[in-house]
Amino acid sequence: MALRSKLIAGNWKMNGLRAPGLALARDIAARAAAGSPACDLLVCPPATLVILVGEAIAGSGIALGGQDCHPKENGACTGDVSAEMLKDAGCSHVILGHSERRSGCGETDATVNAKVAAAWRAGLTAVVCVGETRAEREAGLATAVVSAQLSGSLPAGATADNLVVAYEPVWAIGTGLTPTLDDIAAIHAVMRTALPPQTRMLYGGSVNPGNAREILSLGDVDGALVGGASLKADDFWAIAEACR
Ligand code: 13P
Repeated sequence: MALRSKLIAGNWKMNGLRAPGLALARDIAARAAAGSPACDLLVCPPATLVILVGEAIAGSGIALGGQDCHPKENGACTGDVSAEMLKDAGCSHVILGHSERRSGCGETDATVNAKVAAAWRAGLTAVVCVGETRAEREAGLATAVVSAQLSGSLPAGATADNLVVAYEPVWAIGTGLTPTLDDIAAIHAVMRTALPPQTRMLYGGSVNPGNAREILSLGDVDGALVGGASLKADDFWAIAEACR
């Protein structure tokens, strides 16, 4: 079985004005260019910074991603960004189905499915997020919820090249809470059976320099999708180094 290289992805969410965003991107790019990173790296800035950050990380080996896209290629969709636009702006990846969009913007599995299809049409790798709420976990439904989200959110045609899946329990995002290592391993094992061979599966939710190494040492965890800690170069880099 080929070894899956680890991927550490930073989801900046709705954070970053030009000056601090550029400084963060340049800092990470300089570290990546100076040494050989222990993993693949991806940064997903807000849409306003995608082109600027892309210029700042050019040549560093760090990949660039968007945080969402519209299912359509173009048209009368005020405020939206298409997968083709992200590709044109230099992106190779796009995060889709993040719980903040599922809960805050009413995205269903069907919505996410259509967006993944759009990402693939544009030649982007979709980073598809799944994860249960606190109530669902307490009701013993975590595995069922994640399995249903996966089957509903993925169109036919998934491959290890066009898809990354991120398991992000809703209750672990931005809270400082994380599932037990056994719980992370259990969900990842179930996801592994549902995905094409060698698909990279990330864990996301309160990953920080203190807990990254033990989470990343789990056999089926192929990296991390990092929120808050991706906004500090030192922390993001420490998490990347934890892949060694
Ligand atoms: P935090 O790392 O801030 O918990 O966010 C995780 C996340 O939502 C990444 O997409």
